[in-house]
Amino acid sequence: MKRVLLTGAAGNLGKVVRVKLAGWADVMRLSDLNEITDAKAGEEVQCCDLGDKEAVMKLVEGCDGIIHLGGVSTENTFDSILNGNIVGTYNLYEAARKHGVKRILFASSNHTIGFHERDVTLDADSVMRPDCLYGVSKCYGEMLASLYYDKFGIETARVRIGSCFEKPLDRRMLATWLSADDFVSLTKRIFDCDRLGCPVIYAVSANNELWWDNTKVRYLGWEPKDSSAAFADEPYLQGRAADANDPAVRYQGGSFASAGHFED
Ligand SMILES: NC(=O)c1ccc[n+]([C@@H]2O[C@H](COP(=O)([O-])OP(=O)(O)OC[C@H]3O[C@@H](n4cnc5c(N)ncnc54)[C@H](O)[C@@H]3O)[C@@H](O)[C@H]2O)c1
Repeated sequence: MKRVLLTGAAGNLGKVVRVKLAGWADVMRLSDLNEITDAKAGEEVQCCDLGDKEAVMKLVEGCDGIIHLGGVSTENTFDSILNGNIVGTYNLYEAARKHGVKRILFASSNHTIGFHERDVTLDADSVMRPDCLYGVSKCYGEMLASLYYDKFGIETARVRIGSCFEKPLDRRMLATWLSADDFVSLTKRIFDCDRLGCPVIYAVSANNELWWDNTKVRYLGWEPKDSSAAFADEPYLQGRAADANDPAVRYQGGSFASAGHFED
C-alpha cells in the first residue's frame, strides 16, 4: 500500500492501528476531529470534520485505501450521529468514488444486529436488528458500501466489530471480545487479498462462547488467534446475571439494547 487513510486516528482503535501497522503502508494519512500532534515517520496528518464535504474530498485525494474508523462510536443524539456517521460516511464514499479509491475497511458494529437474542447464531445474511440510533447509522454505512460496490466497484469490508478492548470488560464481552492483534491481522487480510467483494465480517476473536459465524468469509483466509478464555477466571467476570430476561442479558447488544433513547 502506498498511502492509506486512517480516519478516527485519535480514537481508541485508531491509536492501536497506528502502532501495530507502523511501516505497513509507505504513508499513513491520519485524520480525526481531534488534533493529532505526534506524527511519526511514515505518517502525515490531515485533520477535519467528516461532515465537511470539501475537506473530506481533499482528505481522500492521493490515497489508495481507507481504514474508516472515524465517527460517533456509541449511542448519542441523532444530530451528532447525523453529522459524523451519516453525512460523514457519505462524504467519504463520494470522495473515494471521485478519487478512484478501490478498497475500504468500514468499521461497522455488532449494534447493527444487537436486538437478536443471544441464543441465536448469526451470520453475514442475518437480518439487521439495530439496538440504537448509533446501530442504525452503521446499518446505513453498510448499505452505502453495498451501493458503491454494486454501482462503482469499490470493494468494502463491512466489519462488524465486537468489543475491541485490552480485555473483556464484562461477561457479555466473553462472547464479543476482539483482541487488537486479531483486528490488525483482519485489517491486513482485507487489504492483502486479491478479491475482497463487499462482505459482512464479524470481527471477533476465537472465543469459546460465540454468537457469530464467519463461514461465509472463509475465502478471506482470516483466522483470529486470541480468545477471551484467557480472562474467563478473572474475579470480576464471576457471578451469573440475576435476571435472564433482562434485555441487557437477553439481547446480543447488551446494555445498548436495554438503554434509554437519546432525545435531541
Ligand atoms: N472499539 C470497539 O470495540 C468498537 C466496537 C464496534 C464498532 N466500533 C467502531 O470502530 C470505530 C473506532 O472505534 P473506537 O473505539 O476507536 O472509537 P473512538 O470513539 O475512540 O474513536 C472514534 C474517533 O472518531 C472521531 N470522530 C468522531 N466524530 C468525527 C467527525 N465528525 N469527524 C472526524 N472524526 C470524528 C473521534 O474524535 C474519535 O477519535 C468506530 O467507528 C466505532 O463505531 C468500535
